[in-house]
Amino acid sequence: MSKLCFLALLSVTFMLIFVLTTPYSNDRSSYAAYEGGIDPRKTRQFKNIIVHLDLKGAPPRVEYLIEFFKLLSKHHVDGILIEYEDMFPYSGDIEEIRRDLHYSENDIRRIIQAAEVHNLEVIPLIQSFGHLEFVLKKSKFMGLSEDLIDLNTICISDSKSIDIVKQMIEQIRRLHPNSTRIHIGADEAYHVAEDQRCIERMEKESIGKSDLKLEHIAKIGKFARENAGFETVFAWNDMFDKESEETIRKSKINKFIVPVVWGYRTDVTENGYFPDGLFERIFNVFDRFYVASAFKGADGARQQFSNISRYLENQKSYVNLMDLHKNAAAQKVDGIFVTGWSRFNHFNALCELLPVAIPSLIVDLFYLNYQLTEKDAWRAMKSSLECENRRHLRGILAESTVHGCKFPGADVFEIIMHDWKRAVDRRIFGKPDQQPSPDSEAIEILKNLKKSLNQSILYKTDADEVFNQYLHDYHSLIAQNTRTEITN
Ligand SMILES: *[C@@H]1O[C@H](CO)[C@@H](O)[C@H](O)[C@H]1NC(C)=O
Ligand SMILES: *[C@@H]1O[C@H](CO)[C@@H](O)[C@H](O)[C@H]1NC(C)=O
Ligand SMILES: *[C@@H]1O[C@H](CO)[C@@H](O)[C@H](O)[C@H]1NC(C)=O
Repeated sequence: MSKLCFLALLSVTFMLIFVLTTPYSNDRSSYAAYEGGIDPRKTRQFKNIIVHLDLKGAPPRVEYLIEFFKLLSKHHVDGILIEYEDMFPYSGDIEEIRRDLHYSENDIRRIIQAAEVHNLEVIPLIQSFGHLEFVLKKSKFMGLSEDLIDLNTICISDSKSIDIVKQMIEQIRRLHPNSTRIHIGADEAYHVAEDQRCIERMEKESIGKSDLKLEHIAKIGKFARENAGFETVFAWNDMFDKESEETIRKSKINKFIVPVVWGYRTDVTENGYFPDGLFERIFNVFDRFYVASAFKGADGARQQFSNISRYLENQKSYVNLMDLHKNAAAQKVDGIFVTGWSRFNHFNALCELLPVAIPSLIVDLFYLNYQLTEKDAWRAMKSSLECENRRHLRGILAESTVHGCKFPGADVFEIIMHDWKRAVDRRIFGKPDQQPSPDSEAIEILKNLKKSLNQSILYKTDADEVFNQYLHDYHSLIAQNTRTEITN
C-alpha cells in the first residue's frame, strides 16, 4: 500500500515538473490544431485571406515573387492583391506612366502563372482617384491634378482623367484575362473639388462634394464591371466612410463596389478610430465588405526594422472588432486583406523591405489561421521557418531571437535585423563620449546588404536606393537616448 502511495506521489511530482517546465503550456489546443495540420479555412474568422503586394517601392524580381508565392500558399493564403503602380507595362497613350525598369508583359504572365500554380488568386489594384502621383508627376498629365503642388488627386471632372483610368483598367484586363476581381484603390484623395473644373461642374449640376466623389467611384466601378468584365470591384472605404446611407444609395456605389475598411494602428477598436456608425451604415447599404490590416509599412515612413508584435496587435484588434460587430461580421465580412506597404506614397522613402517583414507576415498568418496566442504564433513561425532554436532565448518575443531561419530573403533579414540594427543602435544609444560605429563598418554592412538584395531580390537601382537611404538616415542619427528619429 505505502509503495503504491509513494509511486502515485512520484508520478504526480513528475507530472507537476513536466507541466511547470514545458514552455507555452497554456492554451495548447489551437497550437495542436496547427501541428495536426488541420485545415484552417473551415474554422478561421476570415474565410478569405488575401496578401497585398505594394510595388510602389522596392519591387521584387519575378523569381523572388515566385518563391514568395510558394510560402503564401503553404500558409493557406487565398490570393494576392497586386498594387502595380508604375511597374505595370502600360502602353499606348499612357506609356509614360510606367517606370523605366518595369515588368515586361512576359513577366506579368510569369507572375500570374506562378500564382495559379500555387492556387493564389490574382487581384490587380490600380488607382483611380487619389495616390495618382506616378501619373500626375508626368508633364503630359500634370494638368489633370487637382492641386499643382501636391500631385495626389486626379481631377475627376475632366473627361481626360476618366479616359486614363479606363485605359489602365483595360490594359490590366488584357493581361489578366482570368481575374474575376479588381481593386480600384480610391483612398486618400486629398484635394477633391478644389480645381475650377470641379467647382464649375458642381454649380452647373447643383451637386455637392459628396455626390461628386461618390459618383466618380461608382462610375469607375461600373466601368470595371460592365465594360472590363470584373465580377467584383473593391474600393477602399475612406472617401465615403462618413457619408449617410441616403447619399451612398443615391450614388449607387453599393451596386458596383465592395468596400474595404482599412486601418493599421495597433488597436482599431479604439473609440473614434473608425467613424461613428460606420459598420451599421455598411451593414445596411452593402451586400458585403472586407477589412484590411497590415504586416508592414505602417510603422513610420522611413522604418527599416520590423516590429512583429506591433503588427500582430493590429490583426488581433480586427478579430476583436468582429466580436464588437457580430452581425456584420457573420453576415457581411467576406475576408481580410493583409497589406504590406512599401512607401507611404510615391514620393516618400521606403519602409520595411518585404524580406525583413516575412516573419511578421507569418506570425500574422498563424494568428489569423489558427487564432494562436502571441507566444504560440511566434513559436509556430520559428518552427515553420526553421529558425535556430537557441535555448536560452526561447520564448522571448523579440526580433533578436529570430535567427538563422530559412525563407526567401532570410539573409537580408539577418543583415538588417541583426548586423545593421546593432550598428544603428550603437549610434543612437551610444554615450556621446564613446566612439560611435565608425562609418567604414556601417558602409561594410550596407554593401553586404546591397549585394544580397541585388543577387536575387531587387533590381540594382532599387538595391542602390536602399543603400543610399539607409546611409543617409544613419548619418542623420546622433548619439542620443531617444528613438524618435528613426521611428518617425
Ligand atoms: C486562363 O485560364 C485558362 C483555363 O484554365 C488557362 O488555360 C489559361 O492559361 C489562363 N490564362 C492565363 C493568362 O492565366
Ligand atoms: C514594437 O511595438 C510595440 C507596440 O505594439 C511597442 O510597445 C514597442 O516599443 C515596439 N518596439 C520597438 C523596438 O519599437
Ligand atoms: C546584380 O545582379 C545581377 C543579376 O543577378 C548581376 O548580373 C549583376 O552583376 C549584379 N550587380 C552588382 C553590382 O552586384
